[in-house]
Amino acid sequence: MDEYRTTNLANWDERVAGHMAPDGYGVDRLVDDPEHITSVVRHDAAKLGSVEGLTVLHSQCHIGTDTLSWAKLGATVTGLDFSPKAIAAARSLAERMGIDAAFVETELYDAPSHIEGTFDLVYTSVGAICWLPDITKWAEIMAGFVKPGGRFWIRDSHPALMALDDGRDDTQLIVRYPYFHQPKPINFSDTESYLGTATLVNPDSYSWAHSIADVMNALIDAGLVLERFDEYQHLDWQFFTFMEEIEDGVWALPENVRDNVPTQFSILASKP
Ligand SMILES: C[S@@+](CC[C@H](N)C(=O)[O-])C[C@H]1O[C@@H](n2cnc3c(N)ncnc32)[C@H](O)[C@@H]1O
Repeated sequence: MDEYRTTNLANWDERVAGHMAPDGYGVDRLVDDPEHITSVVRHDAAKLGSVEGLTVLHSQCHIGTDTLSWAKLGATVTGLDFSPKAIAAARSLAERMGIDAAFVETELYDAPSHIEGTFDLVYTSVGAICWLPDITKWAEIMAGFVKPGGRFWIRDSHPALMALDDGRDDTQLIVRYPYFHQPKPINFSDTESYLGTATLVNPDSYSWAHSIADVMNALIDAGLVLERFDEYQHLDWQFFTFMEEIEDGVWALPENVRDNVPTQFSILASKP
């Protein structure tokens, strides 16, 4: 692993404790209420339809809250993530929930050596691809895990939003970072995560921009057929301090600028 991803790993490992805390991802509700699923999966299930009886691979699954939500909807789930602490947390949640789920600790680019077989649905969402330096290789790996006749889904933060200056507390939408990919990542340093109140001693992280065209073309070149592309005005984390919480854990820009920039995109693709 290069120095950038080593730094990211320390950052992600450290975020886990805060995300598992009561003011984090709300894991207790997920464990205690068999009907409760994450808002991310609720929104995506509305687009993807029933997953009853399907095999689902969740890439960059973090602490497994979305992965286990798919399992509650009837899927047989496998989650992958490079953070040992996230994978340990996901396994402990699965055990508490009595769900038979596989969670695999692996760097994304090494996943084919650690996960066998193909899946009905390969799923990734919310804050995933910005951590990856090579979108072409990512798409090849994702496509490789899709069964013939199966589907691939990504919903992630929109790169047009990610190019904006998130340090502002007025409603000015000012471009600060590149929209198009550059091999050298952008360094961020933040002692707080997007959820929870823990202070991070590993605040540095590195992320890479990937334009919408790069993401789409990488998936097409990897042999997937694009079925649907959507852009949204909501986001499952608070990018700007001035965003409004429009439902539990779901944020949007104030109405006077809501139409100015998309906050997320999704792509549904299939494998012939
Ligand atoms: C924002 S989380 C995605 C989370 C998921 N949507 C959720 O909210 O639970 C990003 C995840 O990507 C993982 N990650 C970052 N870089 C990775 C890499 N190179 N290989 C595998 N996982 C990685 C992190 O450990 C983290 O769990």
